[in-house]
Amino acid sequence: MKYMLLISLSGLLFMLSCHHPQAVQNQGVPISPVNDYLEPHRPQFHFSPDSMWMNDPNGMVYYAGEYHLFYQFYPDSTVWGPMHWGHAVSEDLVHWEHLPIALYPDSIGLIFSGSAVVDWDNTSGFQQGEDPPMVAIFTYHNMEGERTEQNDFQTQGIAYSNDKGRTWTKYEGNPVIPNPGIRDFRDPKVFWHGGIQRWVMIFASGDRVRLYHSPDLKAWEEVSEFGAMEGGHGGVWECPDLFPLYVNGDSARVKWVMLVSLGSGGPNEGSGTQYFVGDFDGINFKNDHPAEDVLWLDYGKDNYAGVTYSDIPKEDNRRIFIGWMSNWQYATLIPTYPWRSAMTVPRTLELKETSEGLRLFTRPVDELASLRGPAKEFAADEVTDRLDLTSQVGSPQTSELILTMEWEDGHEGKVGLTLANGLNEHLDIGYDIAKQQLFIDRVEAGKKDFSDQFAGVHVAPLALENELALRIFIDWSSVEVFAEEGKVVMTETVFPNENFSSIAVFSEGGILSGIKGHAYGLKRIWGGATMNEGGESE
Ligand code: FRU
Repeated sequence: MKYMLLISLSGLLFMLSCHHPQAVQNQGVPISPVNDYLEPHRPQFHFSPDSMWMNDPNGMVYYAGEYHLFYQFYPDSTVWGPMHWGHAVSEDLVHWEHLPIALYPDSIGLIFSGSAVVDWDNTSGFQQGEDPPMVAIFTYHNMEGERTEQNDFQTQGIAYSNDKGRTWTKYEGNPVIPNPGIRDFRDPKVFWHGGIQRWVMIFASGDRVRLYHSPDLKAWEEVSEFGAMEGGHGGVWECPDLFPLYVNGDSARVKWVMLVSLGSGGPNEGSGTQYFVGDFDGINFKNDHPAEDVLWLDYGKDNYAGVTYSDIPKEDNRRIFIGWMSNWQYATLIPTYPWRSAMTVPRTLELKETSEGLRLFTRPVDELASLRGPAKEFAADEVTDRLDLTSQVGSPQTSELILTMEWEDGHEGKVGLTLANGLNEHLDIGYDIAKQQLFIDRVEAGKKDFSDQFAGVHVAPLALENELALRIFIDWSSVEVFAEEGKVVMTETVFPNENFSSIAVFSEGGILSGIKGHAYGLKRIWGGATMNEGGESE
């Protein structure tokens, strides 16, 4: 239903005309952006499409020195419509090169979310030259079926590439998993399981995930399901992922983590992503936590449908995550043009033992340090109200801050940072000591009238004594806040009418005994160097 409501008139016209299985294919030549990436609110160091609508990251796979990022893309409008897979590649997870659309809708359906793998042993038989093929596994969504209220309009299909992802051929036997009559049946994530020598597919299906096996990526059989009675169920389950992680980096202790995005019912309402920690024997996933526990990957309102990279080399062994920096509550309404929405910075996921049990910690990838200008140290003691730090930090408009704050015993108020511009718009990132909550307040932070579900004070539970450690990435239209080494994360978009140019520390209702840290201006990743070394506008 969500998609029916979103589909635009141009989308309907497109579908009526789209009955050819082979829509025009490109030759995989990189595309130069048409736009300069300096429009108001344009992310400077995050991935965003040159123009038009984007949602979920798809097909994230590393191959031959390139990180591929495909994404849900509608090339004809800035709102959701008939889905294609847009495509970009990066050699460093920081700078991205746009490539032509990889997958077009065809007579079976639109191309919804999914994953990609390198088929190292050519189990699929798709290999043509010396090198193993890449295989993309995605959901076909048949609009005609949805319109006529059939239940079987989502199926799984595959496509392969023998030229490093530049061109893709859809498998003639598609769909590889027909729909057994289940309405929500989408978003396959596939990985090779060495223990059982099978490909494993996990995909979302309403209030649960389903797991399938295959020897060759073509023939699939259902083996298990998980989740109908576990975790959060405030909305339909989407975009799952399942992967092993070492506990505290110890290779002798492996646990499996399942990510599940929830279309609504997130931690601060709207979309959100939960995770489960447990064991997986190749067939069944067993949750370690009580069924009613809900663990959130990110408490901010703008990190959705995120999944992790496939085929990261063993020597690297990181579990690298990218999410879509938006929320279905208002994604189609955000005030940006000629594109809509961006991805989070790439992040690594790690499992650590905490006093509350095993928790997923999130950290921006180290490669982002290549964008840093010179470090600027800052410090202040005894803040009782507000203290401007701009002369020490510089303009925060594209920056990274690493800091700690300490407060005195008996402080029952709020402490934090305020980013502001000359129009009295401000975004507060802080900690409510009495409530033991990290918060982002974007009530007066800029444009908000596009949706009554956008502005607000959004919170994350975080028990602390007298000190808070923060790492914050600030771009023209987002903040990503990693608290306590990434134990609690909040990702939020923001649309100030002028970029934030000042930064202050505040302490309400008590004495902040000290703040200290360092800041880096971050260079932009698009176009020529219009930023100086410190990453600030010239
Ligand atoms: C998640 C999602 C997926 C679906 C895609 C369609 O945001 O709803 O479940 O495959 O978007 O664009």
